[in-house]
Amino acid sequence: MKTAELRQAFLKYFKQQGHAIVPSSSLVPADDPTLLFTNAGMNQFKDLFLGREQRDYTRATSSQKCVRAGGKHNDLENVGYTARHHTFFEMLGNFSFGDYFKREAINFAWNFLTSEQWLNLPKAKLWITVYADDDEAFAIWNEEIGVPAERIVRIGDNAGGRYSSDNFWQMGDTGPCGPCSEIFFDHGPDVAGGPPGSPNEDGDRYIEIWNVVFMQYNRTADGEMLNLPKPSVDTGMGLERVTAVLQGVHSNYEIDLFQDLLKAASDVLGGVATTEASLRVVADHIRSCCFLISDGVMPSNEGRGFVLRRIIRRAARHGNKLGANGPFFYKLVGALVELMGEAFPQLVSSHKQIEKVLLQEEEQFVKTLDNGLRLLEQDIAELQGDVIPGETVFALYDTYGFPIDLTNDIARERGLTLDYQGYEKAMEAQRERARAASKFGVDYNAESLKLEGVTEFSGYQNIDGHECIRSVIVGSEHKNAEAGDEAIIVLERTPFYAESGGQVGDTGLLTWSGGRFQVTDTRKEGSNHLHIGTVVEGELFPGMEVDARIDHERRERTKRNHSATHLLHAALRKVLGEHVSQKGSLVDPDKLRFDFSHLEAISAADLQEIERQVNQQILQNTSVVTEVTDMEQALAKGALALFDEKYGDSVRVLSMGSDGYSVELCGGTHVNRTGDIGLLRITSESGVASGVRRIEAVTGFGALEWVDSAERTLREAARLVKGSRESLVEKVQQTLDRNRQLEKEIDGLKAQLASLAGSDLASSAVDVAGLKVVAAEMPGADRQALMETADQLKNKLGEGVVVLASVEDGKVTLVSGVTKSATGRVKAGDIMKYLCAQLDGKGGGRPDMAQGGGNDASRLTEVLAGVAGWVEKNSQ
Ligand code: ALA
Repeated sequence: MKTAELRQAFLKYFKQQGHAIVPSSSLVPADDPTLLFTNAGMNQFKDLFLGREQRDYTRATSSQKCVRAGGKHNDLENVGYTARHHTFFEMLGNFSFGDYFKREAINFAWNFLTSEQWLNLPKAKLWITVYADDDEAFAIWNEEIGVPAERIVRIGDNAGGRYSSDNFWQMGDTGPCGPCSEIFFDHGPDVAGGPPGSPNEDGDRYIEIWNVVFMQYNRTADGEMLNLPKPSVDTGMGLERVTAVLQGVHSNYEIDLFQDLLKAASDVLGGVATTEASLRVVADHIRSCCFLISDGVMPSNEGRGFVLRRIIRRAARHGNKLGANGPFFYKLVGALVELMGEAFPQLVSSHKQIEKVLLQEEEQFVKTLDNGLRLLEQDIAELQGDVIPGETVFALYDTYGFPIDLTNDIARERGLTLDYQGYEKAMEAQRERARAASKFGVDYNAESLKLEGVTEFSGYQNIDGHECIRSVIVGSEHKNAEAGDEAIIVLERTPFYAESGGQVGDTGLLTWSGGRFQVTDTRKEGSNHLHIGTVVEGELFPGMEVDARIDHERRERTKRNHSATHLLHAALRKVLGEHVSQKGSLVDPDKLRFDFSHLEAISAADLQEIERQVNQQILQNTSVVTEVTDMEQALAKGALALFDEKYGDSVRVLSMGSDGYSVELCGGTHVNRTGDIGLLRITSESGVASGVRRIEAVTGFGALEWVDSAERTLREAARLVKGSRESLVEKVQQTLDRNRQLEKEIDGLKAQLASLAGSDLASSAVDVAGLKVVAAEMPGADRQALMETADQLKNKLGEGVVVLASVEDGKVTLVSGVTKSATGRVKAGDIMKYLCAQLDGKGGGRPDMAQGGGNDASRLTEVLAGVAGWVEKNSQ
């Protein structure tokens, strides 16, 4: 059975058992800060397990893209060295949200694996583990399914601490978790390794193929285990591992998909044997890199982007070991797209973008790789003992961008280890420096503010309202606020928009009889809007009613910028391509700022076209339509959603422009018709990080102000060149041409002057020891004029010495020259040294010509007068 066929069979089987087939979610988890990458099929269902979300199914099945690199489940360092670890893999899973539990879950798994109609695996080759005290699961396996007790292993808290067990699964440090039961396949005595729970269980003989988790608890941040609303099931079966079993091979790298990838990698690397561990690393890493990039992750120095960078660099290093001496990794994208593009069409549409990103990243790294490797080799050669010092590991990381796992890889190949503690210490010292350099604002978080309830937002329709105060917080205490107090006010309902989705929070006033509260910012905390500001007069306390009114003008300006951002986003995708995705945005009353993925600077022509399209949409003045619907409908309409944004059950879909020009999910406030934006002007385009560009623009009054100011500059410039707005360019060109011509004339005149001055000065030469010596000041001459004059003088003197000087702003410019014939007797450089010593300066040069400068102009006349004496004394 091929990999793709197994994926289909699994989904089909569970569909027959009443499960909804749910597509894989993005590798970037939706708004889940506890998770770096999607690392299991259950991630996208987290809120269903926790009972925070309901859907119209209680059984689901999926084939989920997973990355286990960085974060809690990190396999990066094992990849390439074992038969079964990957950075990227697919997890087949079935899930019950309070529907079935242990009995059905075990029966489903066993039936799929062993029944003739499905995988038909020999029962005798399957081993089972259960959590040590899970007698119920043990009994189901033993008595109902008939697995002999000697092939069911109880695994306790083997990793230290309660619930720290291979048979207790948790998604991260917090979240849904529970005991699990794993199914292992015995690859037979030809492969080394012992059964689970035995001392040599880490070998490759017994391989875990399916993990059935009985989700029962929610682990909180302080380690408490709360019961889930209903017992549930989460399972995960490694697609690649089971394919290996079905294809009668023991290593994942021998399955059809990997054989094809290894072959492609070998071709790119000049025919390396497909059994090379480094080639396996490359074949594994191309999958995670392509999938991560197609899910919007870009290499960077922090968070997800840094993990991606680490993976690319590890691949580049292993390629280098196999003989690649330049970028090669990006050449594998085509092969992967061919193999997996059908199941994941997103790979096909991002094909070119992935290649570009990888090539750029490789080119950047190739430069530092050699230097870093040299430093490491040097340290290894001088090493006493077998531990690479922490400072070296840190220096490699900090200066050469060597992630620690890469250094560890190299160390492992030499039988060396790393001083992790020393590395951490150096790292911490650097963090400390960074911390000291940054300032933090007030931390408004729900826990410290102890806020409950939900603020209703009325600001889509209203700009004011008569509202009731729920909480008043001064400092971090709930208490009444008096005149002069800085405070946070929470209302039951508010027209104030709280900062989110890039749009700044509203400002405005809360007023009541005898009092006023100036709102300087509005932020969101959980489901509440915090009105932050100062009591100008009067007193505020919970329960009282106030009139809330936002700064309307400011909101209007902000709205125009926000709506224009949507049009801009759409125009960018139309002009530059579908790879453009939002990386960040800021919308305030003065401007909009939009960051997006794109590799090169945008050409002037493209920028103009983008601006033209947006303004065309503005002028068509179509109405902006907002619709509240569910996610499925929204996506069906082609709405753009952000990868790392979490959307609830109901979402706001914002359609703008003619023929569905822009359709986006957005909770912000917007204009009613595109014409309300007035006008858009792009004010700058720049790069902010590798692969991320930034556009800044202004709209409405901001655009008018910008145009006005540009117009004023034009007029002023026209006035200066005595032209009009129309003739400005021509006039400036004329002025520049004239300048160039004048410069030429000046050069000619300078040369003539020098020659005249030369003649004059020649007549002032004195004879010293058979040499003609001229030492003179040439007021107003620049360095070049001094040099030219000195050259001419040398020609005239026949055999002699010239020293010329000029003074500007108290600084002396010096030139000394000696005719070729006399350089055996005295050297221009020595004369210069003498001059500089006298004039507090610096200088030097050849035997026949030297130059320098001095700081002490007051002694110049005296020093020049002394030149003849010096030559007399020092010439040979
Ligand atoms: N979530 C479980 C795992 O990842 C199934 O092993």
